[in-house]
Amino acid sequence: MKYLILIFTFLSLQSFGQSKPEDYYNETHRPQFHFTPESKWMNDPNGLVYYNGKYHLFYQYYPEDIVWGPMHWGHASSEDLYHWEHHPIALYPDKLGNIFSGCAVIDENNTAGFGKNAMIAIFTYHNDELWTKGYRNTESQAIAYSLDEGITWTKYSGNPVITNSSEKDFRDPNVFWNSEINAWNMVLASGDRVKIFTSENLKEWKYKSDFKPDPDISKVGTWECVDLFKMTHKDTEKWVMIVNHDRLTPNGGSGTRYFVGDFDGEVFTNTQPSKWLDYGTDYYAGVTFYNVPNNKRILISWMSNWLYAQKTPTKVWRSAMTLARELTLDKDENGYFLRQNIAEKLDEILNNVYSKKEVVMPFKKNDLKLSQAEITFNFKGEQLLMTLSNTKGEYLKIELNDKTFSIDRSKSGITDFSKEFAENIQTMPLDEEVTDFQIILDRASVEILLNNGKYSMTNIFFPNEEFSNLKLESNSDSKITNLMINHVKKTW
Ligand code: FRU
Repeated sequence: MKYLILIFTFLSLQSFGQSKPEDYYNETHRPQFHFTPESKWMNDPNGLVYYNGKYHLFYQYYPEDIVWGPMHWGHASSEDLYHWEHHPIALYPDKLGNIFSGCAVIDENNTAGFGKNAMIAIFTYHNDELWTKGYRNTESQAIAYSLDEGITWTKYSGNPVITNSSEKDFRDPNVFWNSEINAWNMVLASGDRVKIFTSENLKEWKYKSDFKPDPDISKVGTWECVDLFKMTHKDTEKWVMIVNHDRLTPNGGSGTRYFVGDFDGEVFTNTQPSKWLDYGTDYYAGVTFYNVPNNKRILISWMSNWLYAQKTPTKVWRSAMTLARELTLDKDENGYFLRQNIAEKLDEILNNVYSKKEVVMPFKKNDLKLSQAEITFNFKGEQLLMTLSNTKGEYLKIELNDKTFSIDRSKSGITDFSKEFAENIQTMPLDEEVTDFQIILDRASVEILLNNGKYSMTNIFFPNEEFSNLKLESNSDSKITNLMINHVKKTW
């Protein structure tokens, strides 16, 4: 009888969708408030689009294994960017190829003829068969549309819409409606450059220009996952071009950089040197949402690195996305830069567990639940060592030393799955004093934002027990004020 009641309670909770079983999203290292697929392999965010009150996140997905394989587009949506609902796989491979990264737009004026407000995905077909036969035109661009908010999709019968006969890397289209030219623009990653196209109907595309600022490609790795959008600082309009590089970034492996410049609908010209958007090793393929109200620019990145992404020690699923971050354009004596602020609804899943106006160093606090935490404080000084540790002697060291910020994860738990994972201390150069810290921990990741999101560093790590001790030390007369430790609620 007892079992019958239990089974009945479980089934009725399931069918009313009120609650998930307790062990749902509770495996070792499973993020509690970051996006992960229920199971199997995930890489880049794709088709980020806001429509009808919901943020849609599509993503590179291989539903058969926890390593990269023939790519599909997985799909989830959210109203607040923290609570996600999973949807069926949106795009499956077909005879034209596997479905690589791309974007999604809302066709308000029915320019493509699929219907007013059709959600249209623009993606890359990657055809391995051509590749094994020795052809090098393995990547082409294609479109598909959905008339039910991304749940079911129809691929366009005239696919592919852009082909090429010589470029091996020719992928990851990002498309937006440019009202200044009354047409669609596409930016496309191609080897060591971005190719820019225009179209009136998303089906016929005209090549316009190449953006290729690096004289020596051997120093920067392949260009992938690009994005281009307009931002305003005070009264000045600038265009921001985001470019992801698969390897050779400042701390090794994959990373995201950006250019600020001008764009006339055909040619992009950068007006200052490029910058890195995040200095950690686990921030890749970052792109922004299309169509967010009030011109907001919200970005999500994949929290991993091609150096070791396929070897990380999880079994059910592999890899997570960063929290969504709102970008704003700011300016200092070194030119324009992007600030990143964690998407605004974070406050709604926080519970304060500790706060202190003036912190006397060294400061130690044990028995914290640092596996789901936000730590914030104001800072004055030049040097600070923050150590997060567990009772097994594993720790993560975060350090500020004059104008260098660093993360050392060499003793953070399981690291031996890859030689590259913890071989270096990761560093980030700073061009001003640090005034505030925001540190967000979710079991197996840390996102660090300094100076109201001016500097950013993102890392994953795999402790054998959650971190519960916090230590703050300084060998100079640094000062910490307004320390807050918040618990972050599980959103799954
Ligand atoms: C970036 C990337 C893209 C490609 C996709 C394939 O991580 O290599 O360039 O479209 O992943 O999964």
